[in-house]
Amino acid sequence: MQLLVIGNGGREHAIAWKLAQSPLVETIFIAPGNAGTALGAKLKNISITAIPDLVNFARQEKIHLTVVGPEAPLTEGIVDAFQAAGLRIFGPTRHAARLEGSKSFAKAFMLRHGIPTAASETFTDATVAHHYIDGHALPVVIKADGLAAGKGVIIAQTPEEAHAAVDAMLVDHKLGAAGAHILIEDYLEGEEVSFIVLSDGKNMLPLATSQDHKRLLDNDAGPNTGGMGAYSPAPVITSDLHDNIMQRIMLPVIRGMAQEGHPYIGFLYAGLMISPQGDAHVLEFNCRLGDPETQAILLRLKSDLFTLLEHAVNGTLDQPQIEWDQRVALCVVMAAQGYPANPRKNDEIHGLAAIMARQEETGDFHVFHAGTTSNQQYPGKVFTSGGRVLGITALGEDLQQARVQAYDIAATIRFEGCQLRRDIGSKGLAQRICGKPD
Ligand code: AMP
Ligand code: GLY
Repeated sequence: MQLLVIGNGGREHAIAWKLAQSPLVETIFIAPGNAGTALGAKLKNISITAIPDLVNFARQEKIHLTVVGPEAPLTEGIVDAFQAAGLRIFGPTRHAARLEGSKSFAKAFMLRHGIPTAASETFTDATVAHHYIDGHALPVVIKADGLAAGKGVIIAQTPEEAHAAVDAMLVDHKLGAAGAHILIEDYLEGEEVSFIVLSDGKNMLPLATSQDHKRLLDNDAGPNTGGMGAYSPAPVITSDLHDNIMQRIMLPVIRGMAQEGHPYIGFLYAGLMISPQGDAHVLEFNCRLGDPETQAILLRLKSDLFTLLEHAVNGTLDQPQIEWDQRVALCVVMAAQGYPANPRKNDEIHGLAAIMARQEETGDFHVFHAGTTSNQQYPGKVFTSGGRVLGITALGEDLQQARVQAYDIAATIRFEGCQLRRDIGSKGLAQRICGKPD
């Protein structure tokens, strides 16, 4: 069987790598992929990105199933286009993807279905928004309604920051159409977790829990990024809290979307804030897997991902079980100099060949590529080509062991200007030491 994976990041490398382990899968095309997917067993990169061209490719190559990695093509309607052409694809339709594509849609949906989230108001008029901020406690959160590549959320500690964020979005249109509507939201305190389910529209299977590290620098300092590292499972999610999240958040979303005529088929990622009292509130929904959470989660997945996705597309997710490696997985992102504002490209990456040979032997770690490329003029060499370059992902008997292994491997890889956080997993370790037993 031939599959197609859309995207070029670490998440897509991990998805393609995991799908390739299925004995039912012969070839996986990745559009457009990266230097890691170019080298993987059964994997082939293709340089196509426009939706109509992808539809034509899938038709010509008789692709059995297409799997979409990033949010942009989902919110643009890639699933609708494939389905209209009679092609099988896994992911939410354009309307269902509005849970990520429009924060005001998601907020109104949560209100309609009693799903716990921070209180917020939507604004299009700057004067009204400024007035609202004057009466609001600090910190306060200003969010662009639409997709803004990680630049759409400002946590304002002072009134000046809050007013400036409003002006940037509603007056200066810095985020274009994505910032034409804004939400002003109460600030929630606590620990953030990523809770992802696989849904067929009515049945769900929860994936292993995980925690991301969104800020660039150690101790959660510096600007927001796509994610600088992750680990799975998230120790803050006790089994009671897990049940509670499924009953009070994930089930009402899947049921509510079906009731409203837009069944949600795909990965649904809820970014949750767990309060110090142990309550979960939704910060955001994503209509896809997380990056780099996926790298950690899929390294722990023992079940056949292709079979699970087939069940999801066929509406039979009530049938399979999902099996996890009981070990902990941790992913450290190696990012390019200048990331996230202005990542430098075309630096040679050293040390990959030796580590890739070792990863085939041991199987307890994997170097997932993200912003990497090869160059025909320099055969065998790999170069940086984007912000997040590699996701070094390792398993361990506990968080500490996974962490030591991931950092040991990262230490053998070099490229000019590499940035990485040195404290991935330390919150989870603190939780183990200080957390209450369940
Ligand atoms: P979002 O894209 O909505 O997830 O926001 C990006 C990041 O901003 C989240 O991962 C949180 O770290 C933070 N954030 C968003 N909303 C809130 C909130 N209401 N209270 C505190 N932090 C928030
Ligand atoms: N790592 C956060 C995200 O994928 O949105």
